[in-house]
Amino acid sequence: ARGVAPTLDLAGRHVVVSAGGTREPLDPVRYLGNRSSGRQGYALARAAAARGAEVTVVAANVDLPDPAGATVVRVGTTAELHDRVVAAAARADAVVMAAAPADFRPSEVSDDKIKKAGDGSAPTITLVQNDDILREISTHRARPGSVVVGFAAETGDATGSVLDLARAKLARKGCDLLVVNDVSGGAVFGSPDNEAVVLGADGAVVEVPHGTKTALAHVIWDEVVRRLDRQFD
Ligand code: CTP
Ligand code: CA
Repeated sequence: ARGVAPTLDLAGRHVVVSAGGTREPLDPVRYLGNRSSGRQGYALARAAAARGAEVTVVAANVDLPDPAGATVVRVGTTAELHDRVVAAAARADAVVMAAAPADFRPSEVSDDKIKKAGDGSAPTITLVQNDDILREISTHRARPGSVVVGFAAETGDATGSVLDLARAKLARKGCDLLVVNDVSGGAVFGSPDNEAVVLGADGAVVEVPHGTKTALAHVIWDEVVRRLDRQFD
């Protein structure tokens, strides 16, 4: 358990945390978005600052007070999130992708508000895929030895269990750690609590019992610190 005086085991480190959910505009007043609140990302940012890190948070549409001790960079779309995370990652020891980037964006953004046709017909919206930020920063490390962490909310399906799917995602993304939420029983969005399994590319499996997002944040930083110490010292 963590006492009142936190260990400054991230002192001298720069960490980047993405948080929130991106929004992809359709027209001047509408967007495609998701329900990510940014709470887990902000908990990670506060926890890292408390452990002595210099913290940059890239926040997509987060409606929460700024995390104490962190620099907040605000973005809207996945493309903006991509650019700001890649730029900040250039001098980061660790990057944690806690944000929920929209996987797709409308292929065209209408300059004018989309109107109803009048004949009852509905418009067709064509989507294009956004860049995979986590995969890019994992496979092209700006700093060798830096630690990259992804998140995944999964439900098991016919092709495999939650952990099978998560293992495959970890390998596909090329990150060092994947924080897996089993959302089979219902959504976790907006909840103050979390329950997760942290998987390591090195085979580590850390089960985190149901608890606060702050408690999960500290377990994640414990795993990051362990890997940074292995690689740099
Ligand atoms: N992620 C990202 N860029 C994207 C999409 C996702 O960096 N364009 C990151 C998320 O921030 C998260 C991790 O990838 O840390 C996993 O997100 P997830 O949506 O589970 O992965 P996807 O590859 O989009 O897979 P899925 O088809 O299951 O949505
Ligand atoms: Ca996705």
